[in-house]
Amino acid sequence: MSQRIFVAVAWPYADGPLHLGHIAGAYLPPDIFARYHRTKGNEVLMVSGSDQHGTPITIKAEQEGKKPGEIAAKYHQQFLDSWQRFGISFDLFTTTGTANHAQVSQDMFLTLLNKGYIYKSTVSLPYCPNCRRFLPDRYIEGTCPYCSSTGARGDQCDDCGKTLNPEDLLAPRCRLCGTTPQFKDSEHFFLKLSAFQDRLADWVGEQGHWRPNVYNLTQRYLKEGLKDRAITRDIEWGIPVPVDGFEGKRIYVWFEAVIGYLSAAKEWAKSSGDEERWRSFWQDKETKSFYFIGKDNIPFHTIIWPAMLMGYEGLNLPYDVPANEFLTIEGRRLSTSRNWAVWLPDYLSRYEPDPLRYLLSINMPETSDTDFSWREFVRRNNDELVATYGNLAHRVLTFVYRRFDGGVPTPGELDDHSQSIIEEAKETLINMDTLLSQCHFKQAIMSAMSLARETNRYLDIKSPWKTIEQDRQAAADSLYVALSVLSCLRTALYPFLPFSSQKLHEYLGFEGNVQDYGWKPNPPSPGQKLLEPKPLFAKLDEELIEEETARLGEAD
Ligand code: MF3
Ligand code: ZN
Repeated sequence: MSQRIFVAVAWPYADGPLHLGHIAGAYLPPDIFARYHRTKGNEVLMVSGSDQHGTPITIKAEQEGKKPGEIAAKYHQQFLDSWQRFGISFDLFTTTGTANHAQVSQDMFLTLLNKGYIYKSTVSLPYCPNCRRFLPDRYIEGTCPYCSSTGARGDQCDDCGKTLNPEDLLAPRCRLCGTTPQFKDSEHFFLKLSAFQDRLADWVGEQGHWRPNVYNLTQRYLKEGLKDRAITRDIEWGIPVPVDGFEGKRIYVWFEAVIGYLSAAKEWAKSSGDEERWRSFWQDKETKSFYFIGKDNIPFHTIIWPAMLMGYEGLNLPYDVPANEFLTIEGRRLSTSRNWAVWLPDYLSRYEPDPLRYLLSINMPETSDTDFSWREFVRRNNDELVATYGNLAHRVLTFVYRRFDGGVPTPGELDDHSQSIIEEAKETLINMDTLLSQCHFKQAIMSAMSLARETNRYLDIKSPWKTIEQDRQAAADSLYVALSVLSCLRTALYPFLPFSSQKLHEYLGFEGNVQDYGWKPNPPSPGQKLLEPKPLFAKLDEELIEEETARLGEAD
């Protein structure tokens, strides 16, 4: 039975390039998941977009003397380019800057307002008397009360990593002009999260299939008791508040960004020619929605967004929120301000996508933080991709291509060892099917690699390159078995390594795309013509370790 799967992916702020923390945390996992489901023949809709609003972008714009819209447009283009080159296969990657998104967000806002889940209240907020403006958290700087760093912001201290409130800062100052802020009254709208406390607690209690880190963190928030949250801000950049008298204010970036999951589905439906098509992904109770995010975004997706959906009514709640933990770089916490990060566009300008997809999959921060190092990158590429999988493919394909007239040999009766390898390949696909459907990506790719290792051992024993001299049929048998395993591997590894899997698919003599053949062993037919093979992966030079490590932490 075919399933319908909605793959919702965190919206990256369009204020800077993507780095490996983003990729391992939130972008590679949904791509693996979507490719797997599409291969299964399931109906998938995978959407996301650039998060254009909020103070991260206005600050960047002020620093660079540009308009926020210019910054957002630049990085949006860069994201699209990175997705394409890295193989992140969105059905739609839009932005929060569209008229459609503004309209869907304002509709959500007004519906919740009319139902009494949003209310107005007066709050006292930091205000710069010199700039004559209210100062959002990131616009206030001062001394950190924990570590005494003088560059702390109203939302956090980058030096010690502590979360802060503007009133915590010692010697607070306006980041634009240095003046000491005052406090001043302002009217804002609040989301009545407290009204959802019981419903959320009941619902979360039923989500035993969530990852323990996601489940436990959400329960902790619920136990503390939910507090109502301000969902408008005194800024000019963002979606207008659709209420008279609020012309100078905007909807808070987090309130509208999560609505992007819905507005993007609507945009996708419109452009597909069937405007109503979003409904099957949002209103059909059989559809499952998976939200792929980094761990810092958990409460927005397990509490706030579900509360908004409950209040709105008639739309599916998340089925799973498989948030990942963090990726450290060479043993240290990733920091964009210190350039302690590996940037995806940089990576793609020097290397192929699959080696990184491989490393980030087999070392995915699923249940605990994991580390990226260039040494590990080279080692995994050379010892595993090249020496295990690539070598298996290459020695079999080139030998068959040369010695069997470029076609798949016809097997005779297979011995027990051969049959057990074929059996193991089938079981690997079945086993991975379960693992992938439950978002256990790391275990899934490990299982494919262990099949490759087992098949290399099998070939070492059968040694068709020697046997062929005395017993051509015996060589044909073991090579046929190896080709069958490779056929399984091209499917099994396709979600992880789409580029090399597609190549292998073609070398094996199949047409079209790997995905079209389904999540099945699909062995090659005897006589099937191979395409002249080339190596799937290239060995990497150890020298790059030092070169790349030296780039870390450098000012750009
Ligand atoms: N822009 C946010 C971040 O980079 C993520 C937003 S996810 C969404 O942390 F839910 F708002 F879409
Ligand atoms: Zn000021």
